[in-house]
Amino acid sequence: MDDERTSTTDPDEPMFFHRPVLRSEIIRVFAEVPAGTVIDATLGGGGHAEALLEAHPGLSILGLDRDADALRAASGRLARFGDRVVVVHTRFDRMAEVVRAQGIGTGPGNGVVGVLFDLGVSSPQFDRPDRGFSYRFDAPLDMRMDRTQRRTAADVLNTSAETELVRILREHGDEPNARRIARAIIAARPLATTGELVDVVRSALPAAVQRKKGHPAKRTFQALRIEVNDELAILPGTIDDAIDALEPGGRVAVVSYHSGEDRIAKDRLRTAARGGCTCPTQLPCVCGAEPAVRIVGRAIRPDEAEIAANPRAASARLRVGEKLDTHGHQESA
Ligand SMILES: C[S@@+](CC[C@H](N)C(=O)[O-])C[C@H]1O[C@@H](n2cnc3c(N)ncnc32)[C@H](O)[C@@H]1O
Repeated sequence: MDDERTSTTDPDEPMFFHRPVLRSEIIRVFAEVPAGTVIDATLGGGGHAEALLEAHPGLSILGLDRDADALRAASGRLARFGDRVVVVHTRFDRMAEVVRAQGIGTGPGNGVVGVLFDLGVSSPQFDRPDRGFSYRFDAPLDMRMDRTQRRTAADVLNTSAETELVRILREHGDEPNARRIARAIIAARPLATTGELVDVVRSALPAAVQRKKGHPAKRTFQALRIEVNDELAILPGTIDDAIDALEPGGRVAVVSYHSGEDRIAKDRLRTAARGGCTCPTQLPCVCGAEPAVRIVGRAIRPDEAEIAANPRAASARLRVGEKLDTHGHQESA
């Protein structure tokens, strides 16, 4: 695999290093779509966008990211593609508005023919100590993808009630010791640094749990990051918006990294593939629902070689849907 190291346009900005996950598979997914615009809803360092622009000359990219550092890095990396690339600093749930504002229309060559979600956090967000996402470095408890947002991880930890902390740890981290950790957080407040949070989690966990494989604070950090960035709440509606925006034959691709994200991707694609049909699944449809997408293949996972080269890809799953025409027919049929 290529070394995905890129330089940014700002000489004061450190190198932005993120290896795009399932790169070849993403190139293949969008080989099938008509000419037009692919919305990269999670542009990051622009690795997937660059791969698509290189492989498919008929495609342009509208790249969205809520992280200004990522956008700066991606703009530098993609500059050579000129007006085939537009980048916008925004959360992806504003996608429909951005498409309108950019004057992207419909019809041959002018429409949205793809939407890519490569969810979660980029490597620089994890690897830059000052971002406060990682239990590996002692840093202020920040975890905001968009640093213009007000609420930080410290705010969530220092102001949430115990029941709320338990919910966050269980729902976003599948943390079996949620109550113990929530109580320990409340007893130790106020917390200011990732190091303090790691110590609190360690102190709350029984010795047997601490001896298990993996960092004891991993689930807590994941849960907190998802809460700070409201990652799951806005995802279902945005996948629906992406499907609405697509031209017939266009594709939506979702790369998820944990069960909560994957459940949402699977559910929204299945719902669109049933066209909102409410008839019992064992019986033929009589409610007249028309499917909006067909599901393309099964979930794709990285192979062993990719996981060996990039352990962060290990939990990735790619799900793909293809937009049907208004009568629920496949475009090429
Ligand atoms: C896994 S990285 C994407 C990496 C990218 N595919 C590449 O090849 O470089 C995810 C990116 O999505 C951004 N992101 C996550 N949730 C977002 C949201 N709701 N709206 C906009 N950007 C988001 C993050 O800031 C991060 O830069």
